[in-house]
Order: sequence, then structure tokens, then C-alpha cells
Amino acid sequence: MTGVNQPAVALIAAAARALEQGALVGFPTETVYGLGADAENPAAVAAIYAAKGRPQDHPVIVHLAPGAALDYWADEIPGEAHQLAAAFWPGPLTMILKRAAHIPAAVSGGQDTVGLRCPSHPVAIALLQAFKGGGGGIAAPSANKFGNVSPTTAQHVRDEFRAECETGGALAMVLDGGASEVGIESTIVDLSRLASHGPVLLRPGSISAEAIAAVIDQLPAAPDAAAPRASGTLASHYAPHTPVAMQDSATLRTTLAQLQLAGRKIALIHYSAMPAAHADIRLPASPDGFAHALYASLRAMDTTGADLILVEAPPQGDAWLGVNDRLRRAAHGSSGIVHGLLNQQAP
Ligand code: TXA
Ligand code: MG
Repeated sequence: MTGVNQPAVALIAAAARALEQGALVGFPTETVYGLGADAENPAAVAAIYAAKGRPQDHPVIVHLAPGAALDYWADEIPGEAHQLAAAFWPGPLTMILKRAAHIPAAVSGGQDTVGLRCPSHPVAIALLQAFKGGGGGIAAPSANKFGNVSPTTAQHVRDEFRAECETGGALAMVLDGGASEVGIESTIVDLSRLASHGPVLLRPGSISAEAIAAVIDQLPAAPDAAAPRASGTLASHYAPHTPVAMQDSATLRTTLAQLQLAGRKIALIHYSAMPAAHADIRLPASPDGFAHALYASLRAMDTTGADLILVEAPPQGDAWLGVNDRLRRAAHGSSGIVHGLLNQQAP
């Protein structure tokens, strides 16, 4: 990685020791920043849930060093899991497998499965190699309070966990590895019911279902009612505090004009040319570029004092699936908001 401040080796070693002692550490991954704890220490895992304000029955992903033994963590591992690990690890793919009996249930919210991922960010890899001599697993959800937008910089993590970052707080340190390159969370594929249900895509990400199918010859299906629960799959998630509405380009132009005429402050996130707004960010018109900057943009727009964050709906299509999924959840529950802002008196 170039142009990025790498934390010193000594700092990474200190973070590994803190994890070994049961503390929490914020660390960068290529997708988003994680809030890490020793996956085999149930008290440390409980501290993650407490810090996030997350329900105890929501499983967290276990991060592994490159080359880690999958069969230490999981049982009945299908050949497809090894194929996918060989193809995409280190990288933004999480696999759900049957949890090995000796792995504490706390890490999977009591389910009999475990989510495993080997991240590619050099700082995450260095931390995983320093932690328990490379043989441990770091349980880490995204380092945000439950339901909030995921963090893509170290500063976002500090902003989310101000109290926990204070001396004596639950968060021992936050490693800074620059802005996360991918910008949205990993693709999650469930392989724990492969024989009966085939592979199931629990959360779209930058590794597409088609890319997975190219490796294992089976296209992951959309989740059914019996699929394992995932908080990132709740209808409302990844949401800023300001309401978010998403509209296609033409509708958005009209809405923007109407709302501004009604005295409303609009923060605009768009990728095509648009009239001026109270605040605006123009994102690249490519799925990777858009994903990279999406969460930082939502956070930035959340601090502008706008009445509404209006987002130009990205194109449909496989490459945009992850971005559209996150935006839909960010906008969930705001459907009547444009109407409401037009029809109520502006303050
Ligand atoms: O990119 C990512 O995946 C980031 C970075 C830090 O690795 N992590 C992340 O974690 O997004 P989190 O906890 O915010 O989201 C993980 C998702 C949740 O929706 C969780 O329910 C699901 O993975 N998950 C984890 N283990 C699972 C399991 N055993 N069965 C079903 N879903 C699982
Ligand atoms: Mg999350």
C-alpha cells in the first residue's frame, strides 16, 4: 500500500497483546473498520456487543490470518469452501460454515455456524499474524454503533466510540490504516447448508454472486426464511441520523427543485451533473468508486444540518448490487419523507 500511514510494528504488537488480554481494538480492513476481540474469549466478545449496543443473538465474523487452518474453526467443511478461500482470500468474502464444537457459541450469537473471513488489508494481516502467533481469530463486526453507517477511516471509529476510547474505556486503541479501499462490507455466502440448500448469498458485496459461481459452478441463491440471521440484512441498517431518500436522476431533479423552493436544506449525493444544493458530493459513476466513498459521504452529509440526504439512485445490475443494497437499507423507513417535507411548514 502506498500513501498510507502504516502503524508502527510496535503499535501492532501492542494491539495484539491488548486483544490477548481481552481488550477491544479498532482496526482497518479493506472493506470497513472492525471492532476486534479475541474470538475465543466470550467475555471479550460480550464487550463488543456491549460497546456496539448490538443484540446478543447477532453473530460476528471471525477474522483469520492468511493460511489459517479452516478446520480448527469449522466442521464438515465442503470442498467449495476451500475453493473459495483459495480464490478470494485474503479478500472481502465471508463464508458461513458449521461451527467447530470447541469454538465458543458467543461468537455466533448462539447459532451452530461460524462466519470466517481472511481480510487483505496489510494492517489487518499484520495484526492477525501478531495475535496469538497467527493462530487466533479476531471476532470483529464493523466498528459502529448498531444500525449506524459502517466506518471507513480510523477517525470514524473514534467518532462512533468517543466514550469507549477514553482512558480506561473498553476500546484499548484504534489502528489507523487509512481509508478502507472497498468501502462496503464483505460479501457473505452461506455454505453451512450446502447439501440441502446450495450456496446462499446473505449479503452482497464487491465479490459478486457471478464471481463465486465462476469458482464453484453454482450460483448463490438469495436468502430464504431459514437462512441464518445477519444484522446487515435487516431492512433498516447502515443508516445516518438524517433521513435518506433515493430517487432516479430525473425524479431527483424535480424533487430537489421543489424542496429547495419550500426552504428545505438538501444534502445531495450524486454521480451525474445536478444543480447546486445545500451540500453535495459527486461520486464516481463506477460501482467500485461509488462504494469506496459511499459511507464517508453519508457521514459527511449527516453533519451538514440538512433536512434530507437525497441520493441519486445508482444503476441496477450485478456490479451495483452491494451499493444498492446498502442504500436501500440507509433509506428504509424514509419513504414518506419527501412528501412530508413538502407539505409541512419549514421551520
Ligand atoms: O467486511 C466485513 O464483513 C466487516 C469487516 C470488519 O470484516 N465486518 C462486518 O461485520 O461487516 P458485521 O458484524 O457488521 O456484519 C457481519 C454480518 C452480520 O450481518 C452477521 O449477522 C453476519 O455477518 N454473520 C456473521 N456470522 C454469521 C453466522 N454464523 N451466520 C450468519 N450470519 C453471520
Ligand atoms: Mg455492521
